[in-house]
Amino acid sequence: MNILVTGGCGYIGSHTCIELLNNNYNVIILDNLSNSKNNIVEKIECLSGKKVKFYEGDMIDKNILRKIFKENNIDAVIDFAAFKAVGESIIKPVEYYKNNVSTVLELVTIMKEFNCKKLVFSSSATVYGAPEKVPITEECKIGGTTNPYGTSKLFVEQILNDLYNSDKEWDIAILRYFNPIGAHESGLIGEEPNGIPANIMPFITKVAKGELSCLNVFGDDYDTPDGTGVRDYIHVVDLAVGHIKALEKLEKEGKGLYIYNLGTGQGYSVLELIDAFEKASGIKVNYKIAPRRAGDIAECYSDPTKAREELGFVTKKSLEDMCKDAWNFESKS
Ligand code: WQD
Repeated sequence: MNILVTGGCGYIGSHTCIELLNNNYNVIILDNLSNSKNNIVEKIECLSGKKVKFYEGDMIDKNILRKIFKENNIDAVIDFAAFKAVGESIIKPVEYYKNNVSTVLELVTIMKEFNCKKLVFSSSATVYGAPEKVPITEECKIGGTTNPYGTSKLFVEQILNDLYNSDKEWDIAILRYFNPIGAHESGLIGEEPNGIPANIMPFITKVAKGELSCLNVFGDDYDTPDGTGVRDYIHVVDLAVGHIKALEKLEKEGKGLYIYNLGTGQGYSVLELIDAFEKASGIKVNYKIAPRRAGDIAECYSDPTKAREELGFVTKKSLEDMCKDAWNFESKS
């Protein structure tokens, strides 16, 4: 099968491309390289031992989408291409809605033109807002998002639901990621955000490396066991495997709209994450307790039952693996 991976040079996209190639899919990447390094394609080919087709461009450009579909018999699309920094989205809402929502409208328009109706969409647990309960199931209400990034994912989920209800020939899997961290065991690819990291793990690894001096722990007065925020960290390689499982579901069953949480089902606090990182790396992380970050919630972790029962998806990597692989990548960067 020929799979178009939009944003395939990004953090989750690149790890998923490697899993696709390892599972004998043909991979075509469209990426504008806005949040990734341009040697990432060579690294994907080196780590998989296989070639990929790469198109540099932006999904908002219908011409490049048409060119890709004309030149390749695309069987399915995995759509990662989006901006993903929560804080930045509050400052630049229009750019986020344009890049994260309008591009999907262009994508599904061209997919329909070429009668390609299998789509795996990269969504986020952020669509649950402040969750009504934890662990979070797919039946939990969505909405009440606290930032344009999360709202953009909510909008696209609504668009895809409306698209499916208008044409039951579509075959759509919406994957709600919890907190992806870690890196490929080679240390050749991993999370390398532009500028000062917003997410905790790349910030921790840069403090461990000495590039940043101190980690601010955003609040220790939440209603959690040690007062710091609790999240469901999932190894990016496990997350990538979840996409293969979703594709297999679309190939096998077809004609449906499926929604899955991709998480481990285990929540860890910020202090527990720091402790796990120190044990895995042997390096003390300098941190201090700081005020809460606006928009943060106390606890967010998944009930992974549905993905396990319907996709056969079970995460394999531990928090220690996530920390070890994240540090291995940072120390080699
Ligand atoms: C995790 C925990 C912070 C930084 C967001 C998006 C989600 C996904 C991942 C894209 C929280 C604490 C953080 C720091 C800290 N995005 N923290 N000091 O906010 O749970 O999720 O990023 O895929 O969709 O919503 O992730 O890593 O920013 O925060 O104490 O310097 O670490 O308060 O408890 P978050 P995060």
